Amino acid sequence: MPINKKNIGIEAIAFDIPQHYIQMTDLAEARGIDPMKYVLGLGQSEMAVSSPCEDSVVLAIEAAKQAIDNFGIDASSIGLVVVGTETPIDHSKPVASYVHEFLELSQECRVVEMKHACYGAMAGVSMATDWILSGRNKQKKALVIATDIAYYGVNTPGEPTQGAGAVAMVISEQPRLVEFEIEFQGYYAKQVMDFWRPLYKKEAIADGHYSIDCYLNALGDSYQMYKNQYFEKNDKIDNNFNKIFSASLYHVPFVKMAQKAHIMLLGQDWGMQPARDSEEFQTAKNDYQLRVAPYLKLNARIGNIYTGSLFLSLYNFLADASESMTGKSISLFGYGSGCSAEFISAKILKFDKRLLDYKDRLKKRRKLDIVSYENLQELWKNTGNKDGVFNDEWELDRQFIYLGSEDHKRQYQNKFKA
Ligand code: HMG
Repeated sequence: MPINKKNIGIEAIAFDIPQHYIQMTDLAEARGIDPMKYVLGLGQSEMAVSSPCEDSVVLAIEAAKQAIDNFGIDASSIGLVVVGTETPIDHSKPVASYVHEFLELSQECRVVEMKHACYGAMAGVSMATDWILSGRNKQKKALVIATDIAYYGVNTPGEPTQGAGAVAMVISEQPRLVEFEIEFQGYYAKQVMDFWRPLYKKEAIADGHYSIDCYLNALGDSYQMYKNQYFEKNDKIDNNFNKIFSASLYHVPFVKMAQKAHIMLLGQDWGMQPARDSEEFQTAKNDYQLRVAPYLKLNARIGNIYTGSLFLSLYNFLADASESMTGKSISLFGYGSGCSAEFISAKILKFDKRLLDYKDRLKKRRKLDIVSYENLQELWKNTGNKDGVFNDEWELDRQFIYLGSEDHKRQYQNKFKA
């Protein structure tokens, strides 16, 4: 049955990040590793570090407030809030309830937290799209937020792929930034032990190299499903199918992963995976430099923000892509370990670029040395494990901060109201 035509897409987007970061070359030096492994091998130059006062709620609320304020969204028009996160703050109570309260949203609202590793926010975007498509939204808009703090622990292989941040998006029938091409999408799911975090641990466990294979398998199969659907509607697709997208955006656990992903997809189109020293590999790498790499600057300087990593790359794309891309198509691939994945596409709309800016935000961060970073990580690891309040010792320039718990109830200082 044909899908009803509706214009559904992203009306507003904003992100938030912790106010501290480390330099990857400093981390490499402290770990006795060639800095080029982190900078070139993984593609990371800096990494965001959360203080105990910056939990997944704080990051989510700040990102959502900016999306609403910067784009002039009427908060009373929001009828669905979905928070994708794998950094929950409670076994029962969702981050989304705090977002709903602190943004003073209408009580006529569906509010839920979505978990499937890094796939949670992409699942939220799809849920919002389907809700609007069904007409049950009654013209209301959805607020979808990705918020996470990636933590593997000090001196682990995953450590250089940590990070933290949130991306908030308003999905509606009045898209201003991109419109989803809802007739095509590819899914993939398979139970795999590539990355997980048992309830009793703050550190994620990763079977790192296997997780890369799982990601690539999920990408290949969901892309194939997308292509098959496209093929049903279009007589012919050639072996450069991927070129229909002006930019290809991926889930970015570390920047080099997006390069691996893109080269593999082009290889899939060509019916062969290029060997590293081949001409085809170089052709694919050149294409990566053109259609993927320009939109990974934020990821390289923030690190893995799990559910939000793909959307951080989207933000980077929207802020930096040339106006000549208006009306063209981009692809978006979301992957969550465990695993579940989705491949979709969207058309770029004409919008005022001044609505998006990230350069000042990065400049305002404070750099930590590695000893201070390790101390902060230790504090973060022990935060929230027992009842008790604490002070903001980090002099954060924030309107909203987390201050521990009293009587097992989370305490937040909200200066937005003052
Ligand atoms: P590792 O074993 O430390 O690193 O693990 P490596 O030996 O594989 O080296 C990494 C790259 O650096 C290699 O490049 C090396 O050649 C290169 P590649 O061969 O892959 O192109 N290299 C150098 N380059 C220049 N100069 C040098 C040098 N030395 C080496 N001197 C790994 C790396 C990513 C596996 C590890 O950090 C890890 O386990 N990270 C966490 C897991 C992860 O990020 N997995 C990604 C896929 S799963 C996913 O995306 C889901 C996730 O986001 C979670 C969720 O869904 O919630 C993680």
